[in-house]
Amino acid sequence: MPKPIRHVFVCAQSRQPGHPRGSCGEKGCADVWEEMLYQLQQNEAFGTVAVTNTGCLGPCGMGPNVLVYPDGVFYNNVKKDDVKEIFSAHLLGGTPVERLRAPADIW
Ligand code: FES
Repeated sequence: MPKPIRHVFVCAQSRQPGHPRGSCGEKGCADVWEEMLYQLQQNEAFGTVAVTNTGCLGPCGMGPNVLVYPDGVFYNNVKKDDVKEIFSAHLLGGTPVERLRAPADIW
């Protein structure tokens, strides 16, 4: 397996309805995850980008949340329609999508 240039983690955490923390699950992280996998396939980026779904990343109320390493870039409120831009501009191109980055008091 080649070492990826970037590794993206998509929060896939769900909680019961009414839970005080909420979750990325109730905000549509499944669609974000599916689109990330689709972009991985469409771009044939298997040797360049690693994609992993994960548990809670912290700021549940700002989800769906996506974290990219080794850059340490944290994205909040990611929608399915944002994923193509994250993939092409950042994961492949190396330029983070500024409009989706977490505010400084979060990350
Ligand atoms: S549930 Fe996604 S960050 Fe907590």
